[in-house]
Amino acid sequence: MKKVGITGLGKYLPKKVLYNKDLEKMVDTSDEWITTRTGIKERHIAAKHEAVSDLAVHAACGALKEAGLKASELDLLIVATVTSDMQFPSTACVVQAKLGVKNAVCFDISAACAGFLYALVIAQQFIARNAYKNALVIGSEVLSCVTDWQDRNTCVLFGDGAGAAVLSEVKSGGMLSSYLGSNGTFTDLLMVPAGGSRNPASCKTIGERQHYIKMRGNELFKIAVKSMADAAQNALSKAGLTSDDVDLFIPHQANIRIISAVAKRLGLSEEKIFININKYGNTSSASTAIALCEAQQEGKIKKGDVVVLDAFGAGLVWGACVFKW
Ligand code: ACO
Repeated sequence: MKKVGITGLGKYLPKKVLYNKDLEKMVDTSDEWITTRTGIKERHIAAKHEAVSDLAVHAACGALKEAGLKASELDLLIVATVTSDMQFPSTACVVQAKLGVKNAVCFDISAACAGFLYALVIAQQFIARNAYKNALVIGSEVLSCVTDWQDRNTCVLFGDGAGAAVLSEVKSGGMLSSYLGSNGTFTDLLMVPAGGSRNPASCKTIGERQHYIKMRGNELFKIAVKSMADAAQNALSKAGLTSDDVDLFIPHQANIRIISAVAKRLGLSEEKIFININKYGNTSSASTAIALCEAQQEGKIKKGDVVVLDAFGAGLVWGACVFKW
């Protein structure tokens, strides 16, 4: 099997920033509550004309540039998202047309906040087995369009953004191992109830605000900590490594307290954990993609480093990937 690594990264955050102080004027909350309970200070919000594919294209251009690859050289394009431009066709096909990717197989995957990791693993498997050569994997979300701006339990948490990675064969290092998990018995803990075939859009569903995120955050919190710690441990042990070998841990940015609890379980010291939740909130599938790109741009990843991505989200789904950079 071929060694597969990330050869380019990109990210895009919409211009508009929504601060905790702004939310204080919208719902019964405070900067103090949001900061201490979540670690979030601000988040980016897409403009009216910006859909998920628009954010995705910006991030993709950065990743292609860094990889030194033309769009025409891609043969696989996967978009991870829960807020696709339309029910169908896939956002990946929309991105394909916008980027001018003529000869690629394009599809979306839905794995919420673990979507980017799921997509990375799918792309890695295809390239390792010689089915495709160059893959573009994007996590992109406009969660602001499914956020209930009247619900203080959820509206303070989410943000919009996109991150992208180009994957190709590498001579050394690359993805050393991965571990993915799912548990469909907890679908009711986090969902957008209407708009699908179960509850198609109607005046009733709109009136009942069923097209917005419904979340039982407290119950998710505990499962998130355990699942993310287990995923990282499993992926590391598959690579023959332990927490001591980790140079940088990049967790899904859902809550600073979840990140700290996972890091504690793994025995990781603070300087090994990448955190940017304060700036972006929870951007679901874009979260680990943006964080990985930003960590690299900030010079936090050196050649030869062991980098672990770790995520958890609605489904429930979770996963971790171990890379040698
Ligand atoms: N401002 C002020 N008070 C608030 C706010 C707010 N924005 N939101 C909730 N509260 C109140 C609640 O009403 C409650 O008040 P009460 O005690 O009078 O009933 C109190 O704060 C505590 O509420 P909890 O829900 O218990 O608060 P908790 O400490 O659990 O924090 C949070 C809530 C931030 C949502 C946390 O549970 C969390 O981060 N959960 C995990 C989320 C997650 O990981 N999601 C999965 C990934 S996301 C994806 O897949 C898209």
